[in-house]
Amino acid sequence: MCGIVGYTGKDVAKDILVTGLKRLEYRGYDSAGVALERAAADGSVTIDVIRRVGKVAGLESELAHIDANATCGIGHTRWATHGRPSVANAHPHTSCDGKIAIVHNGIIENFAELREALTARGHVFTSDTDTEVFAHLIEEAYEGRPADPATGAPATPGTHDLMAAVREACTQVVGAYGLAAVCADEPGVIAVARKDSPIVIGRGENGSYVASDVIALIDATRDVVVLEDGQFAKLTPEGIFYTDAEGKAIEPAVTHIDWDIDMAEKGGYPDFMLKEICEQPRVVRDTLVGRMTGGELDIDELGLTMEELNLIDRVYVIACGTSYHAGLIAKNLIEAWARIPCEVEAASEFRYRNPIITPSTLVVAVSQSGETADTLAAIRDARIKGAKVFGITNVVGSPVARESDGVIYTKANKEIAVASTKSFIGQVVSLTLLALLLAQVKGKLTTGQVRMLFRELGDTAGQIQWILDTQTDAIHEAALACKDAHSALFVGRGMGAAIAHEGALKLKEISYLHAEAYAAGEMKHGPIALIDPGFPVIAVATRSPVYDKTVSNLKECEARGAKIIVVATEGDEEIKQIADHVIYIPEVRDAFSPITATVPLQLLAREVALMRGCDVDQPRNLAKSVTVE
Ligand code: AGP
Repeated sequence: MCGIVGYTGKDVAKDILVTGLKRLEYRGYDSAGVALERAAADGSVTIDVIRRVGKVAGLESELAHIDANATCGIGHTRWATHGRPSVANAHPHTSCDGKIAIVHNGIIENFAELREALTARGHVFTSDTDTEVFAHLIEEAYEGRPADPATGAPATPGTHDLMAAVREACTQVVGAYGLAAVCADEPGVIAVARKDSPIVIGRGENGSYVASDVIALIDATRDVVVLEDGQFAKLTPEGIFYTDAEGKAIEPAVTHIDWDIDMAEKGGYPDFMLKEICEQPRVVRDTLVGRMTGGELDIDELGLTMEELNLIDRVYVIACGTSYHAGLIAKNLIEAWARIPCEVEAASEFRYRNPIITPSTLVVAVSQSGETADTLAAIRDARIKGAKVFGITNVVGSPVARESDGVIYTKANKEIAVASTKSFIGQVVSLTLLALLLAQVKGKLTTGQVRMLFRELGDTAGQIQWILDTQTDAIHEAALACKDAHSALFVGRGMGAAIAHEGALKLKEISYLHAEAYAAGEMKHGPIALIDPGFPVIAVATRSPVYDKTVSNLKECEARGAKIIVVATEGDEEIKQIADHVIYIPEVRDAFSPITATVPLQLLAREVALMRGCDVDQPRNLAKSVTVE
């Protein structure tokens, strides 16, 4: 998630902005910038924009050489989602006349059509970002715009009021935004808007503060307004004025923050892992933003034409760890929907076994960090052999992104906990989109079917939220039942088997409790020898074509005294006859069950790890990205 800071008051703004941006560094970013008001001797005011790729420290050193005594400014740390990390793409972005500067968190879904329309009206864009449209929309609303002979739209008078112009611009934007704007014609004013992206505001001793995260203004005040969707704020050195979307004054509630700095960094959660698990509904939504335009799937970053896609006759998904498990899910989807063979391989194996690759082979490299050495090496090997390579990664401009022919970004924002959770969900959603596109191009799914599946895919965001809201107690009880075990077996069939593999990895990597995953049908071929009284068997037995078979396998375990924990579909009462603990997920199409059924296993692993006194964010022996073989 990007970071926003803003200040207007009696003190020098640049120092406050830099301090605030440094507090936001933990969230991850690739560039930073500030916009500062500068008053000339004649009383005129200009907006200086200073932006740097890299760390805030670099921006700070550049500011040290600028005689910036501005007392009003805004700042931003950018985690790239649209457009590579570069100075031109860093925030703040400005209007054509440079009088208005804005910083933005979120994603503008309709930025392409807005950019096209603004360009047609003469606006000049200087970046590849979605954000920049906001600067030009606010400029038009502020200054007014001439009649448009092309569309017949009449001239509109300007508001010549920054707050009103921001409200007007927001009516044209579809998507999520936390926004702060300044204007040379209104010195000392910061206009703020919020929809689906956090914004907090507060009064300090010498001025008014805005930030995207409490951590950035906690030194100035612990009494903050957490702006709600559709609310706006005008910050001045003297005070803060809140309005609704129509400009009517409102008095939002003030929240007292008693977190310490560490707690504030985690947004009030006890650890990053839980914070990131709880971000998963947003990740689903953000990863799907802009993917269905005009009723058609839109993955134009693929780098392959529909004709080239149609020629694909084999897919390899190569990855490591959790990303490999996302590949197991992709295999089921691609083969079921597109009816072409899909192999999933650990990158460390793929690169050494001389795989069969032809020009009609598509290699999909999945990597959260985008810098895993084994995955990168496998990409290079595949390209040498002539395969088309498509990357799915969470880091814009990462080596995996740069070395692939095309790339989808998972839009999970920075994942800090070593155990991958929200990035896994982003990967599964992205791979599902790829499977749908392949199926549509191959004529195996109609456009109507794809649209229906796309809608259901989006519904998983709310289903995850239901799990987070209702299953905490069941998960806690299940964790108590297995926390003292020496080993655990995860089982499932079909999609359940792939989910079981991810569940086993989560448990062992953060609680150090040994766990294995097996296709449930494999139990009788050996693993059932492990079962003795109290041995934990954790099963994914959601409604699916293989539900009955899975239940039969669990009965074999129950007969030997196993402690059975099941992830099941809401309303399933039958499963209680064999399970000691049941964790429910909402009814969902089997194809999408990995997106929801994995969440209980993430939470279970975390609960067990906490009970065993483990550090859930930084497990022993592990690194967030494995850049060595
Ligand atoms: C998963 O929780 C682990 N952190 C690890 O298995 C990880 O998925 C693997 O190292 C691959 O990392 P990548 O997705 O960044 O390539």
